[in-house]
Amino acid sequence: MTQSALSARLLRIKPSPSMAAKALVDKLRAEGRNIVDFTLGEPDLPTPPHIIEAAIAAMRRGETRYTGAAGTPALRRAIAAKLARDNHLDYRPEEIVVGCGGKHIIYHALAATLGAGDEVIVPKPYWVSYPDISLLTDATPIEVNADSANGLKLTADALEAAITPRTKWVILNTPNNPSGAVYSRGELLALAAVLRRHEHVMLLSDEIYEHFVYDGGRHVSPAEVAPELRDRILVVNGASKGYCMTGWRLGYGAGPKFLVDAISKLVSQTTTCPNAIAQAAAIEAFAGDQAPVHAMVAIFKERRDRIVAGLNRAEGLACPAPCGAFYVFPSVAGLIGRRAPDGTLLDTDTEVANYFLREVGVATVDGASYGMSPYLRLSFATSLNAIDEGCALIAEACSKLCPSR
Ligand SMILES: Cc1ncc(COP(=O)(O)O)c(C=O)c1O
Repeated sequence: MTQSALSARLLRIKPSPSMAAKALVDKLRAEGRNIVDFTLGEPDLPTPPHIIEAAIAAMRRGETRYTGAAGTPALRRAIAAKLARDNHLDYRPEEIVVGCGGKHIIYHALAATLGAGDEVIVPKPYWVSYPDISLLTDATPIEVNADSANGLKLTADALEAAITPRTKWVILNTPNNPSGAVYSRGELLALAAVLRRHEHVMLLSDEIYEHFVYDGGRHVSPAEVAPELRDRILVVNGASKGYCMTGWRLGYGAGPKFLVDAISKLVSQTTTCPNAIAQAAAIEAFAGDQAPVHAMVAIFKERRDRIVAGLNRAEGLACPAPCGAFYVFPSVAGLIGRRAPDGTLLDTDTEVANYFLREVGVATVDGASYGMSPYLRLSFATSLNAIDEGCALIAEACSKLCPSR
């Protein structure tokens, strides 16, 4: 069999660039290279013990079988309570669908609603999977520039200009991967005012990094500020990031019943249901002791400050402090046009990322993968030692570059 066996739909997409970067790190390490890895899209801390114990207890109780497609009633109730407690949102369990990760919910939501000719507004910089998941449904992702004067956030004017009669979804991600931008209540209200005028447009609000907000800020859900849009908003979240549960594969969507039912119907024909044991553990994550989450965010704040200071010491990098998530997104404009010691011209952020990996063994992801250049994304979900070592190596690599052409 050859490529001709593959569908046009599959050939349209690429592997997730952040997962590809991680695979390259694993390969180089297996070859014996010492790599400082800033590509990680997951907390490096272990799943809290009380969550693990809940999973073990569930297995001992025999909760090892299929569940309903949308998840167990107990977990959907726990998520409804979590949405009320943390986000001031009022969802009934029947308006919640649980899936194998937030990504799974996003795919199923888009697959349930989109077809050829439909458009999905994806503000740049974006999480790598939004455009490709849209393409998989035969829809067209419409990439819209975020405002660099406004912390790389989508403005109401840019949203208004991007909406057409074919627009079906707008995807908003706050706190944002890769920029770390956190939308304020006022910014969300301005975007909601635009959506109010366009009744055919739905909002997918990806809030997977909700817990990671620094400097006294607070995550606000668009569904909280615009309750009148409730029937057109799908809130997506999960256990992966806030509870260090990336490998458990547990996410959820909360939204209007017709949409939740449609996603459940699709899940019943694809993965059948989410992992039963992960569901039992997630009840403990969402309803149990929240102290580990707060402790983790304090650790991440220190890491954020350390990486921002370290990168700003490197000549040619400009790194603002992100308000949320666990990524920095420095501009590398000051390195573009310069030459590596081996003569290679650094003419794109991809070349800069390749140069850092080749020259000093530091792995980052290019801004191009997130639709915005010339930037790099670095995750600070790693130890302070790794941050110090990696920043020193990046500064060394920058100092070796020949002057601009
Ligand atoms: C912005 C964003 N949304 C959703 C996800 C999906 O997370 P999961 O499928 O593990 O819940 C990720 C993971 O990296 C992400 O960065």
